[in-house]
Amino acid sequence: MAGGAIVNTRGGKDYPGKLTLFVFLTCVVAATGGLIFGYDIGISGGVTSMDSFLEKFFPEVYRKEKLEKSTNQYCKFDSQLLTTFTSSLYLAALIASFFASTVTRTFGRKWSMFGGGLVFLIGAALNGAAKNVLMLILGRILLGIGVGFANQSVPVYLSEMAPARLRGMLNIGFQLMITIGILAANFINFGTAKIKGGWGWRVSLALAAVPAGIITLGALFLPDTPNSLIERGHPEEAKHMLRRIRGTDDVDEEYDDLVAASQESHRVKHPWANIVKRKYRAQLTMTILIPFFQQLTGINVIMFYAPVLFKTIGFGDDASLISAVITGLVNVFATFVSIFTVDKLGRRKLFLQGGSQMIICQIIVGTLIAIKFGTSGEGHVSKAYAASVVLFICVYVAGFAWSWGPLGWLVPSEIFPLEIRSAGQSINVSVNMLFTFVIAQVFLAMLCHMKFGLFYFFAGWVVIMTIFIALFLPETKNVPIEEMILVWKAHWFWGKFIADDDIHVGNVEMGIDRSKINA
Ligand code: BGC
Repeated sequence: MAGGAIVNTRGGKDYPGKLTLFVFLTCVVAATGGLIFGYDIGISGGVTSMDSFLEKFFPEVYRKEKLEKSTNQYCKFDSQLLTTFTSSLYLAALIASFFASTVTRTFGRKWSMFGGGLVFLIGAALNGAAKNVLMLILGRILLGIGVGFANQSVPVYLSEMAPARLRGMLNIGFQLMITIGILAANFINFGTAKIKGGWGWRVSLALAAVPAGIITLGALFLPDTPNSLIERGHPEEAKHMLRRIRGTDDVDEEYDDLVAASQESHRVKHPWANIVKRKYRAQLTMTILIPFFQQLTGINVIMFYAPVLFKTIGFGDDASLISAVITGLVNVFATFVSIFTVDKLGRRKLFLQGGSQMIICQIIVGTLIAIKFGTSGEGHVSKAYAASVVLFICVYVAGFAWSWGPLGWLVPSEIFPLEIRSAGQSINVSVNMLFTFVIAQVFLAMLCHMKFGLFYFFAGWVVIMTIFIALFLPETKNVPIEEMILVWKAHWFWGKFIADDDIHVGNVEMGIDRSKINA
């Protein structure tokens, strides 16, 4: 007989089971879905600054850029055509994530991952072999569709597979892979920019096939999550899978909760109509605001434009690329801090600490730049001065890498009940992609107009989002994913939106102590 769940201090449950090698490996393989997104973030900026690439596909842009002689460091050459080309991927991903929602819900999480990897692979081949702009753009749209499918399915897959008390750690594997993808791309651009024959960009673009191959092949071997198996009418397989991933036969309690969640889910025919219901207001708000805020931290200014930024503060070509590699390394290593602390300290502490660190660094960087370049944008800095700017940028990146980076993907994937989880995750992906697009598109114009104030602007947003988290995000660490409703019900603000009748799953029936909810 099952030993049963233990009610923990937060009013959630601790199911029996341990971290099995099987679940660890499946999560590592699934997380590689993050590589394709990261690789693209890191590769595009480098490729579009290669002369041979511009000459071939955007000769007009190339000519204008060479004529540009402004000494104003804030106002760099800005081609809307070129940034639109780069950002077309994010628009494609935005739209694709809605289709991915249906695939993920109807056919299972693994087929979304497989499909995403495959389409990305075709896009990489088209881009690497591109003979004209049409091939290039078609390729980018396919890459975007791939990213849309992967980002929609991977975080949900990881959150469902993981035992509740290690969910944060396993889910952040996705962000870790994003950062590794970005870093690999930085290194590759550094190497291919040195290729003499003018075909370096082809190598950079074609190598996207490597991460795509990894997730496409990997997805073929992945099992589907018990939650999804039950939802799609395979209860026996689901139970078998649950035993396998938890490493124990004592899974009845968790299984029953999944079945209850699935029954609830089957009452819902239209996830999109349901998600706007009052009882889901908290989750809907989070899945819109968290990705919006994540992009308003300004992180992609660093990820996309680090070499430009470092050139602005007086580094040469090589030094700027090396500095970009340094921030890339910091990004990867700092992610481990969140991997090891997120299930102990919790999400809120990381959000609040990381946010505060980012605010301080942004103010310092803005001020350092203001002192040297003022509002005119004219000026020179010493190597030591420039190095100190890079240092504070690294501390800022570290703050992001253990807060808004990983949590921006983790939290939206773990807060929704099963019936609207796929739809909720699609909203998360599309809002994220939309604002990634917007920031990429307007950053250079903003820098030209707002000058060093741009750093204060982003700092202001991080202040707002940090206060938002402090007031409105309840702690979700260690709470089983199908029990999350209890956390919202217990929250001082969101609790008002959830009627007592809205809570069916796993509490009264499964013996949860309701008195703990309001504790
Ligand atoms: C964000 C990306 C960002 C990356 C940096 C991700 O969580 O979604 O926009 O470039 O982190 O590591």
